[in-house]
Amino acid sequence: MTDPSNDSRRCALVTGASGAIGSAAARRLAQDGFRIAIGFCKSLEKALSLKAELQATHGDGAAEVFQADLAQKGAADEIFVRALGHFGRIDALFNNAGAIRPGPLASMDDAAFDAVFAANAYATFALLRQAARHLSDNGRIVSTSTTVVSSPIAGASLYAASKASLELLTMVAAKELAPRGITANALRVGPTVPGLFALAPVERQTAMAAAAPFGRLGTPKDTAEVVAFLMSPAGSWITGQILTVDGGITS
Ligand SMILES: NC(=O)c1ccc[n+]([C@@H]2O[C@H](COP(=O)([O-])OP(=O)(O)OC[C@H]3O[C@@H](n4cnc5c(N)ncnc54)[C@H](OP(=O)(O)O)[C@@H]3O)[C@@H](O)[C@H]2O)c1
Repeated sequence: MTDPSNDSRRCALVTGASGAIGSAAARRLAQDGFRIAIGFCKSLEKALSLKAELQATHGDGAAEVFQADLAQKGAADEIFVRALGHFGRIDALFNNAGAIRPGPLASMDDAAFDAVFAANAYATFALLRQAARHLSDNGRIVSTSTTVVSSPIAGASLYAASKASLELLTMVAAKELAPRGITANALRVGPTVPGLFALAPVERQTAMAAAAPFGRLGTPKDTAEVVAFLMSPAGSWITGQILTVDGGITS
């Protein structure tokens, strides 16, 4: 087998690639010719299954798995450097892993604050720091935010506030990295199933789908298509933006 670090094809690091939106984006980016660094935390089987699928479709060097609990100090830096060492280049970062602790403010303890901010805000900071140091010129950064930032709901305090941090970090990265042709944008993704919204009560999912302009919730593929566009050469004039990807649900 050839050494992946000598392969000149572009590479994308996708965090949360063991999950619904991340795996859909990984498949879509692989179609566009990216080799994929599959970031995962606990879901080893899903990560390995995605790797096998991408290799079967796109060849042996198409993907590799990288485990990291991004909420831990140093883990985001380490996964970026490991993926860079393996592939020899990182051209795109899909900063997509995320955690939620639903519940009213009165029930939220300090540990919940630390856990959610570590996974959503600290990990974003550390990944963008590595991207600023090592991402290829003309590279791409897309971060996954949520419509809960623009349309806050009860029970989402830590999730919404930590994703607001992700948005601001992404916007600052856009300013700092533009001189190297790198774009950075965040997506305010709306309720998407499968994915985190599948944790919501089924009646709430059904009611929201019925009230949605297109009569349905989002799918991971809906978001993956937008990610692929922003990661493509056609996306080079869009940076520092927060795009809502929700089928008009919060419009
Ligand atoms: N689905 C929605 O309705 C919706 C709406 C708006 C925004 N989002 C955002 O979309 C992103 C993807 O969510 P999803 O819907 O695809 O949910 P999902 O299927 O549950 O995927 C979540 C992913 O995040 C990873 N992850 C969680 N904590 C992590 C940690 N500490 N370190 C590393 N990885 C971690 C998980 O990895 P393991 O499984 O390997 O542990 C998993 O791959 C999240 O940022 C979420 O906030 C989702």
